[in-house]
Amino acid sequence: MRRELVCVAGSEEIGPYTLLRLERGSLDPGAPGQFFMLEAPGRLLPRPMSLCQAPPGELAFLIDPVGPGTRALAGVRAGDAIHVLGPLGNGFDLEVERPLLVAGGIGIAPMPYLAESLGGAPAILGFRSETHVGAARLLPDAEVVVEPRLVTELLPEDPGDVLACGPEPMLEALRALAPSAQLAWEAPMACGYGACYGCVVELAGHYERLCVAGPVLSTAA
Ligand SMILES: Cc1cc2nc3c(=O)[nH]c(=O)nc-3n(C[C@H](O)[C@H](O)[C@H](O)COP(=O)(O)OP(=O)(O)OC[C@H]3O[C@@H](n4cnc5c(N)ncnc54)[C@H](O)[C@@H]3O)c2cc1C
Ligand code: FES
Repeated sequence: MRRELVCVAGSEEIGPYTLLRLERGSLDPGAPGQFFMLEAPGRLLPRPMSLCQAPPGELAFLIDPVGPGTRALAGVRAGDAIHVLGPLGNGFDLEVERPLLVAGGIGIAPMPYLAESLGGAPAILGFRSETHVGAARLLPDAEVVVEPRLVTELLPEDPGDVLACGPEPMLEALRALAPSAQLAWEAPMACGYGACYGCVVELAGHYERLCVAGPVLSTAA
C-alpha cells in the first residue's frame, strides 16, 4: 500500500451516485473488494471506498453522498488533487468455479472491477428506487430488482459461489441462503490499516479489526 497525492481526472453523475475518476499515479489497484482511504476535502479523516473500476492509468470510485465526507468527495472536480492510501484489506477470492455477483444499492461499487477480474460473471442487483437503478449501467448484463422486490428473490436454488456487497440485512439474508458466500462488510473506519481499532467487529466469538480481517469475509461477521 502507498499514500499518494493524485489528481482528479473527472467525475460523472450516475443516478444519485458520483463516479469519481482519479489518476492512478503509482498506486496499485489491488484485488477487487479491497479499498482505499480517500481524503475528503475539508474533513479531518479520510473515507473508505471500494475500487469500482481500474481503467488504464486511473482508479474510479462510486460515491453515495450520504454525509459530509462523501458529499465533499462527490464535489471534487477535474484538476483537484486528493491524498489516497491503498489498496487496503482483503478482497474477494477469485478462485471460484461458478461466481454469482450480488449487490444492493451502493454495494454495486466493487462489482464492475470484480466482474472484469473474473472475465465476466452473472450478477443480480437490487436498488431502492428507479433513480438508483441508473447505477446498473455499470453492469449492463445484470438482472435488476427494485424494492419492494429483493435480490434474494432472484437467487437460484443452487446459487454457486456468491460474492456480495450491500446493506447488512441483505448480507445476513444471503448468509442464511448461501453459507459459503463471500460477503463484503462495512464498519466506520478512521485509519484503514489496523492502527485505530475503530472498525472492530465480533467475528465467531472474538473481536477483529474489519479493515485487517476483511472487509470481505467468508464466515459470520
Ligand atoms: C471497506 C469499505 C468500503 C466502502 N466503499 C464505499 C464505496 O465504494 N462507495 C461509497 O459510497 N461508500 C463506501 N463505503 C461507505 C463510506 O465509507 C461511508 O458512507 C462514508 O465513510 C460516510 O462518510 P460521510 O462523512 O459521508 O457520512 P457520515 O456522516 O460519516 O455517515 C453518514 C451515515 O452513514 C453511516 N455510516 C458512516 N460510515 C459507515 C460505514 N462504514 N458503515 C455503515 N454505516 C456508516 C453513519 O452512521 C451515518 O448514518 C465503504 C465503507 C467501507 C468500510
Ligand atoms: S480502521 Fe483503524 S483499525 Fe480498522
